[in-house]
Amino acid sequence: MSAKNQIEKEKVPRHVAIIMDGNGRWAKNHGEMRVFGHMNGVNSVRESLEAATDVGVEYLTLYAFSTENWDRPIEEVSALMDLLVQTIVKEIEGLHDNEVRLEAIGDLNLLPKKCKEALLEAIQKTKNNNRITLVLALSYSSRWEITRAVKSIADAVKKGKIDPEKIDQTTVQKYLETRNYPDPELLIRTSGEKRISNFLLWQIAYSELYFTETLWPDFKKENFYEAVVAFQNRERRFGKISEQTTI
Ligand code: FPP
Repeated sequence: MSAKNQIEKEKVPRHVAIIMDGNGRWAKNHGEMRVFGHMNGVNSVRESLEAATDVGVEYLTLYAFSTENWDRPIEEVSALMDLLVQTIVKEIEGLHDNEVRLEAIGDLNLLPKKCKEALLEAIQKTKNNNRITLVLALSYSSRWEITRAVKSIADAVKKGKIDPEKIDQTTVQKYLETRNYPDPELLIRTSGEKRISNFLLWQIAYSELYFTETLWPDFKKENFYEAVVAFQNRERRFGKISEQTTI
């Protein structure tokens, strides 16, 4: 039986975040260059988006390029940026037709001009869609995001716009890139690595973590459904005891 049939519709996570890992190893296993893995990784982006939409996930956030990824060999960085532009250009009509709203988090000013322009155009075009929001984390890292938030809050305090005594978790949340999204209930990482790698550190405080050995280019719809089923079988307690959380 497909994992999809085991999904309880009323318990689908509103927000799923994915660390897409293993493209390089997948390419090596196929005797190809790393970029071949990234190219095939795009198919898994499509599969995950379709599966997420299908089961009613509202937000899907993908870690597409981290702040640290800028330190990879220049050829790989350029190939990834080219792939991003090509994918956006190729997929934008399909995304729009399927009522996908595209958004991005991260230091977009560091992206090459053509990449940033294609991205902003796609974001603008799809901004009124509301079936699912696809959030690309690009040139993103959590420490960058939190540092930036701290600076902005300090600036607001200096200007007398915020009373430091009144700063609470909601204040901090409002200054994060993800201010408009609920926290992810489920975080998936592919390729067997069990790390968070500077991704959504604040937002995943109570997320369920799902690690799979599957390399990202092999991650298909069924794998996504399996992750949702695993999530639904977890007991989420938010620091309380079992009896307090069962209805
Ligand atoms: C990690 O695998 C993957 C990335 C750093 C890039 C992810 C990019 C894509 C899937 C393609 C473009 C995405 C979009 C949204 C159009 P890795 O290179 O670290 O693999 P390894 O750990 O096996 O070396």
